[in-house]
Amino acid sequence: MASSASSSLPGDPGRVPEESGSLAAFKREISQLIGVNLAEYQDRQMERRIQTLMRQEGASDPISYLEVLRSDPRKLHEFTLGVTIHVSEWFRDAERFEDLARVVMPELLERFQRLRIWSAGCSVGCELYSAVIVADRLGALDRCEFLGTDIDEDVLGRARAGIFGANEQKGLAALDARRYFEPVDAGALQLQPELAGRARFERHDLLADSYDQGFQLILCRNVTIYFTPDSKARVYRHLSSALAPAGVLFLGNVERVMPPDASLQPFRPSFYRKRA
Ligand SMILES: C[S@@+](CC[C@H](N)C(=O)[O-])C[C@H]1O[C@@H](n2cnc3c(N)ncnc32)[C@H](O)[C@@H]1O
Repeated sequence: MASSASSSLPGDPGRVPEESGSLAAFKREISQLIGVNLAEYQDRQMERRIQTLMRQEGASDPISYLEVLRSDPRKLHEFTLGVTIHVSEWFRDAERFEDLARVVMPELLERFQRLRIWSAGCSVGCELYSAVIVADRLGALDRCEFLGTDIDEDVLGRARAGIFGANEQKGLAALDARRYFEPVDAGALQLQPELAGRARFERHDLLADSYDQGFQLILCRNVTIYFTPDSKARVYRHLSSALAPAGVLFLGNVERVMPPDASLQPFRPSFYRKRA
């Protein structure tokens, strides 16, 4: 088990300078190994997560933990899953999804012949598939294209499968689930293939990869909350350039474009429109 000194957090009295140095070195080294630049995520949250994983492994310090991860690909994969938070829900923040269904998507459908819709940081797909269901209710499926991206291949595989275990059904209660899902083993639900087949999932790192252009709607919700302020601002600039003029950016409930970006105008809570 990790000693209490090695598991203390930045600013904790028990913390010693060498430890902060070794944690910084750990972050640099591990970023290379997993291909995710941890320096762009908020320090306190990231360090807390690393220390929890280190403790669970029973490593006494970051250097010995690094050795374990280097020598065991399975543990390295588990570490990657552990540092990227994947919590997701269907129709997350129900009121905002009501706005999407009643106002935002109908307006977009009036303005544009076709909608390219991107869920950036899509996790296991509940968010993108919620948008698929909204489009279905509006009778607009054939006018929409759906793309989900995430940094993590594991969640993308689960999103492609379209099968949701009992702990991945939060938010479905309000829906007539029988209309959209078939029950499968152990309480899991499978999204109907004709809906699941509408979505495409690809790996994309919002902090490192180039962005495609011409989207009418981008959902980027509860993803940038983990980034440093500079990285967050850069991601919003890229998301703005990925939107078509008059396209819409849909953020999480407590998220704001900060610092304000003149190209993105807030027009309802959580929604920004790109200047036409
Ligand atoms: C908390 S989940 C949010 C899922 C969904 N957007 C929602 O609100 O329900 C955050 C997701 O962002 C992904 N993520 C983290 N860093 C990323 C990055 N640099 N590029 C793309 N996705 C990232 C994680 O893998 C995770 O699946």
